[in-house]
Amino acid sequence: MKRRQFLTSSTAALVTTGAVSRWPARAFAQETAPMARLAMPALLDTRSTGRLSLQAQSGSRSFLGGAATPTAGFNQDYLGPTIIVKNGYLAAEVTNALKSPVSTHWHGFLVPGEHDGGPHLPIAPGKSWQPEMHVAQDPATVWYHSHIHERTAEQVYFGLAGVIHITDGDDDARGLPSAYGVDDLTLVLQDRRFDDAGRMIYDPSMMDVMHGFAGNYLLVNGQAGATAVVPQGIVRLRLLNGSNARIYTLFFGDTRPMHLVATDGGFLPAPIALDRLSLAPGERAEVLVDMSDGGAAVMMSDPAQPYGVLPFEVDPALPVRITRLPDKLDGVLEDLAGSEVQTRLVSLDMGMGGMMTGGGAFAINGRPYDMERIDFAVAQGSVERWRIRSTMVAHPFHIHGVRFRVLSENGAAPRPENTGWKDTLLVPGEAEIIARFDQPARQETPYMFHCHILEHEDAGMMGQFTVT
Ligand code: C2O
Ligand code: CU
Ligand code: CU
Repeated sequence: MKRRQFLTSSTAALVTTGAVSRWPARAFAQETAPMARLAMPALLDTRSTGRLSLQAQSGSRSFLGGAATPTAGFNQDYLGPTIIVKNGYLAAEVTNALKSPVSTHWHGFLVPGEHDGGPHLPIAPGKSWQPEMHVAQDPATVWYHSHIHERTAEQVYFGLAGVIHITDGDDDARGLPSAYGVDDLTLVLQDRRFDDAGRMIYDPSMMDVMHGFAGNYLLVNGQAGATAVVPQGIVRLRLLNGSNARIYTLFFGDTRPMHLVATDGGFLPAPIALDRLSLAPGERAEVLVDMSDGGAAVMMSDPAQPYGVLPFEVDPALPVRITRLPDKLDGVLEDLAGSEVQTRLVSLDMGMGGMMTGGGAFAINGRPYDMERIDFAVAQGSVERWRIRSTMVAHPFHIHGVRFRVLSENGAAPRPENTGWKDTLLVPGEAEIIARFDQPARQETPYMFHCHILEHEDAGMMGQFTVT
């Protein structure tokens, strides 16, 4: 592969190219010191200043207690701070202290294309980027990550990603937990591949590109084997699937329900109780979990072949703020159906044929991503229906600059967890979505739409559109 190593060199020998074993069956994250307490990412609260400063930098970290391994992060070794923003003016400054270009895409921000941080907005080494934005959207958990074409997978993998909370300060009135790291936990789920010396490896084989690169360890907020310690009440979990390719189907080992309160783009009108929650790369979900029984609980994934994601432990000494689930929330789900002026077909193509001949195996509507080609021109303010079709595997489909509603999944009504505002949707088969494209994106800085399996995206399963 023409892929070049972003931070490491010569680690390839340790990864067997025959690592076709797609999801290693080995249990995750159980080999480090027991009872390490899960830490939250540092906080970067912009609410009083309206300013935010990030530096993309290299670092190193010992994830498993063994050798330290090269990493990257924003303002720290690995990942970036959790940024708190409120609606209004937000002046960001991102500096690149790395040796390759990076960008900072605000995944979930409804801002114009020139501030979106996609592949057309690279920050050269030693340079900085200063978008002045106006945040005007509903409270939501969104995120940020590097987005350089053909290098997104590697850059995100080594740590160039973080979470953003858009907040309006009204969570007390909603009856929602909001004490960061106490009853309001931010959880970044990522699988990563480590060699026997504990070094984090990224060297995808052709099979890894086909399936998406999978790890043999699970990290939560960059930590392996940690336990979340929570108060004996209602706890809010803001989940981000920050993995390159792994799809989680989350559930609690003791079958306690998760009450979904928010999806990618904001709150639901009322909580939805779920036994299982599927979370594909790029998706976020906010759930409430009742820990008032004081019992230990383990969040797991994949009911068919279960593995542990995160153990929870109740500390009765922690302050309990919320003791009952809210009946209602104030999420407003606009019904856009019927107002569309345009229907588009988006086929997420993946074919062995192209692969063998070295052509475009990964494409959208038959065409691999081309930075010079605008695929769609959308009229600003108009509503469009997009019919998304996956080939070969289920692809998580993401659109920049909008939030959408799901009209149907495989011809049926959307699953309960997909009834809210979304910007990323796992499409096993076919789905229809609808959105109003309010924000502008010019030809020089168009919005992307793509598969959020980062290896697929880098390989060409991406397109771009203007909104004018
Ligand atoms: Cu997470 Cu193109 O984005
Ligand atoms: Cu995005
Ligand atoms: Cu894909």
